[in-house]
Amino acid sequence: MPSTNPHADHLLETGREPISHPEQFTALDGLTPALLADAKGRALARLQKGLAIFGDRFPAPSSENGEYPAIDNIEWTNGFWTGQLWLAYEMSGNAVFREAAEKQVQSFAERIDQRIVVDHHDLGFLYSLSCVAAWKITGNTLARSAALKAAECLYERYLPSAEIVQAWGNLNDPEEAGRMIIDCNLNLPLLYWASEETGNQRFRNAANKHIEKAMRYLIRPDASTFHTFFMDVKTGAARKGTTHQGFSDSSCWARGQAWGISGFPLVYRYYRNPQLIAQSARLTNYFLNRLPTDLVCYWDLVFTEGDEPRDSSAAAIAVCGMLELLRHLPLLDPDRQTWQAAAGAIMSQLIKHYAANSEDSGSGLLKHGVYHKPKNIGVDEYCIWGDYFYLEALLRFEQVWESYW
Ligand code: GLY
Repeated sequence: MPSTNPHADHLLETGREPISHPEQFTALDGLTPALLADAKGRALARLQKGLAIFGDRFPAPSSENGEYPAIDNIEWTNGFWTGQLWLAYEMSGNAVFREAAEKQVQSFAERIDQRIVVDHHDLGFLYSLSCVAAWKITGNTLARSAALKAAECLYERYLPSAEIVQAWGNLNDPEEAGRMIIDCNLNLPLLYWASEETGNQRFRNAANKHIEKAMRYLIRPDASTFHTFFMDVKTGAARKGTTHQGFSDSSCWARGQAWGISGFPLVYRYYRNPQLIAQSARLTNYFLNRLPTDLVCYWDLVFTEGDEPRDSSAAAIAVCGMLELLRHLPLLDPDRQTWQAAAGAIMSQLIKHYAANSEDSGSGLLKHGVYHKPKNIGVDEYCIWGDYFYLEALLRFEQVWESYW
């Protein structure tokens, strides 16, 4: 039975469950400058290898037997590759990364002009990390114009009656009508950015409405999250929460929780609603209380021990999310130190036990990710967004990062 959210018609919760074992985040060896420097060197070398492999093409969403197939610019994930090249350029100053990323801007401009596989909400993943990044770093005007067109295309998916951006499918498809998903938190910054660039408030107004609905309906009373939630597109009423990539409708898909932890504070950069920080904090504690002993989450938080696959990509997203949350959090927040320790401890585990070395085949950065467990796609493989967020986390530990989002 799909789950409903009995909490949803009431005021939002602000209480957080206490962190059960804060000591687990200081028990393991933490993050040191030497560890970070070694991880950065390894990652940059892998990316150089990836550039040689992919040339003008892109890595697929997830690897097969440890190697990414090469694809054209047709997936929801292509921006994660270009985004890694921009991060690598910022980390190293090496023009090779910048030149490769700038070439890809042309491909993203053509993709939005010709509307190639853009009938979904992942325009933020695609265009924030490729074209908004290019505009912010180099002032590339083609990139700015492509990103604004992408924002326009994303805005077309906003349903005023339901006050959400529909995730997938043709807007007339009855199966997908009124479905929002937690991942969309990371697509909304493109709309906010477009409002800031153009002065046109309709993008911002749509994003504000969506994120309010996401807080109200995608977050359950216990601070776990639904992956997806359906609204009635005629009446705007809440319908039901379901999963797409998680274990069950009532479980908590680890990457969905991580999209929530990170997306709410990223939206807070543009929309100063304190609920966004309060809710990210609640989601963080739920996540931290359901980690196995090596602190790298299973693919669904219903699992806390045993042989199920880990999702290292969710761990990397959650680390970036905690670092973003810490930027906006009141200095005296009682959980601040634990979150700082947790972000460092999880990152240290990723670097030591999940990051690829020169002897690993292929060019991925972060092993042991999961794309879609129920469909058995990309299980225990590299995932291109896992690589991206691992690299973003490395940069965030090194400097106050101004963000492409
Ligand atoms: N946004 C799709 C995923 O996280 O797999």
